[in-house]
Amino acid sequence: MAHVSDLISEDIEQYLKAHQHKSLLRFITCGSVDDGKSTLIGRLLYESKMLFEDQLAALESDSKKVGTQGGELDFALLVDGLAAEREQGITIDVAYRFFSTDRRKFIVADTPGHEQYTRNMVTGASTADVAILMIDARKGVLTQTCRHSYLVSLIGIRQVVLAINKLDMVGYSKEVFDRIVEEYRAFAKQIGIEQFVAIPMSALKGDNITAPSENTPWYHGPTLMGFLETVEIDNDVVQRGAFRMPVQWVNRPNLDFRGFSGRVVGGSIKPGQRIRVLPSGRESTVDRIVTFDGDLDKAVAGQSITITLRDEIDISRGDVLSTSEEPAPVADQFEANIVWMSDEPMLPGRPYLMKLGARTVGLTVSAPKYKVNVNTMEHLAAKTLELNEIGVCNLHLDQAVAFDPYEANRDTGGFVVIDRLTNATVGAGMLHFALRRSQNIHWQAIEVNRDAHASLKGQKPAVLWFTGLSGAGKSTIANLVEKKLHTLGRHTYLLDGDNVRHGLNKDLGFTEADRVENIRRVGEVSRLMVDAGLITLVSFISPFRAEREMARSLVGSGEFIEVFVDTPLGVAEKRDPKGLYKKARRGDLKNFTGIDSPYEAPDNPELRIDTTAVTAADAAEQIVEYLRANGILEVL
Ligand code: ADX
Repeated sequence: MAHVSDLISEDIEQYLKAHQHKSLLRFITCGSVDDGKSTLIGRLLYESKMLFEDQLAALESDSKKVGTQGGELDFALLVDGLAAEREQGITIDVAYRFFSTDRRKFIVADTPGHEQYTRNMVTGASTADVAILMIDARKGVLTQTCRHSYLVSLIGIRQVVLAINKLDMVGYSKEVFDRIVEEYRAFAKQIGIEQFVAIPMSALKGDNITAPSENTPWYHGPTLMGFLETVEIDNDVVQRGAFRMPVQWVNRPNLDFRGFSGRVVGGSIKPGQRIRVLPSGRESTVDRIVTFDGDLDKAVAGQSITITLRDEIDISRGDVLSTSEEPAPVADQFEANIVWMSDEPMLPGRPYLMKLGARTVGLTVSAPKYKVNVNTMEHLAAKTLELNEIGVCNLHLDQAVAFDPYEANRDTGGFVVIDRLTNATVGAGMLHFALRRSQNIHWQAIEVNRDAHASLKGQKPAVLWFTGLSGAGKSTIANLVEKKLHTLGRHTYLLDGDNVRHGLNKDLGFTEADRVENIRRVGEVSRLMVDAGLITLVSFISPFRAEREMARSLVGSGEFIEVFVDTPLGVAEKRDPKGLYKKARRGDLKNFTGIDSPYEAPDNPELRIDTTAVTAADAAEQIVEYLRANGILEVL
């Protein structure tokens, strides 16, 4: 007999190969164990005869031990047992199970139902064709049903089954069934779910799972399995759309062959068709479509292929191939939904990475326009997004990308947000549309450019970035350095936290989000000053690595000199030049760096000044020496 349930990935591949000729349907079950979710999954596995015989024997004896009513098999025991196994050692919160019938093979994503698990549900649902919403007939539509429906519509699952379960507990009542369907219909409309299929069932007793039940003679719709076996899968829908293929890699085994490999994620393509490469806009004609099993005369969504072209044009990993007639739009600013998946909140202005298709680009997110209360659909004001929160934000990329609205194509419109330092996935999102301003704001070519500015001043511009705790001595040292540079005839400017916070940044406080924005702005200002040809000194606590790295990335290599003014907290606190540590200790000043707000010391600063070992004057001398040794003080 074939395999059941949780398999490790090698087994999955073998399993899928064995059933290659059948179409694959992915679905997700939403609900809690109480609604009979585990029982339903167990029942589907059982009915499709995919259980191992020994597992079945174990199940029978376990069910007897627990003593289910009427000696029925307790399928929940099976599924929960598998879930528990899975949790040992593997920290994956979405369990995938596999089964197949004569007509189709299935992958079901099983995710925990609680509110905290939005993240898991989004992960499990992101590739699903169908969502089964479990309803306990005795309880009807619950808050969690609304939450799950909202997520299902957000993720763009086209097919929704309302599984009205435990109907045996309400005497197989048509009235109860009809009332729940009406209640759900009214709600579903509000969130854009126009169509759904409601099935009266008892997963425990097996009503309407694979065979029409005699207990519901008034129901004439499909059984659950019947529906799952025949419903149109997403891939078929996507195949009718526009051709899209993100280039995963450029395949160049020798000088005679140059192919572009990837998975077709939309539409279809044939040799001889004109294609356009995005974002570059270059065009060529498809020569061959190469696969392991020989050349194809047509490739469709879902297939992994290598395309060769008639012309030598520049294409790199992450580019998107489309047809000339239906090219993907290109933009660098968007509105999008974001689901936040990290314990660390999303911070507007912080540099993240965004992975869209095969391309990874730099990303910053603006403050949310609103976040959504997933239980009530209410829109709430928000400055950040916390774990499991969902909001609508504007995105700013550091380069233009080809995309589609998520509605049109989940692959070219869905993205993940990655933390630059840890490489962890911290969010997922769906593109709504490109902001019009991204198409309307262009770079103005300026003729008196940075080289012209620098050469008139006869100096090399640079950023001297001082970071450290409050009271570490940053400003004192920066001040001395500036005086020395001035004496040497250099054009300088000192941006100091306390001063900039009186003007440009007077709208900002000391929350994490505000500090991120504070440093983002100062980073941008120092970039402008470097463009203007100045040696720019920046003296801000700048407590977070991510923003310091962003500031570094804004100027040329060698132009950013990070000076870590390293003063232990105890020493800074003892100095307490402004009396702020005392206030913070008394609890009169919140979010104070080093007390109740973190400071992330630089890993690899260009210079580290130990203020317990050198005087401010010596430190300043040391810094000027560094500039001299590194060619910054050369006269142009
Ligand atoms: S940063 O963290 O956003 O880089 P910034 O350098 O602009 O801080 O401002 C720090 C200065 O603001 C400190 O030197 C101190 O005088 C003052 N300050 C007021 N409140 C705080 C606070 N909660 N944490 C740190 N500094 C504070």
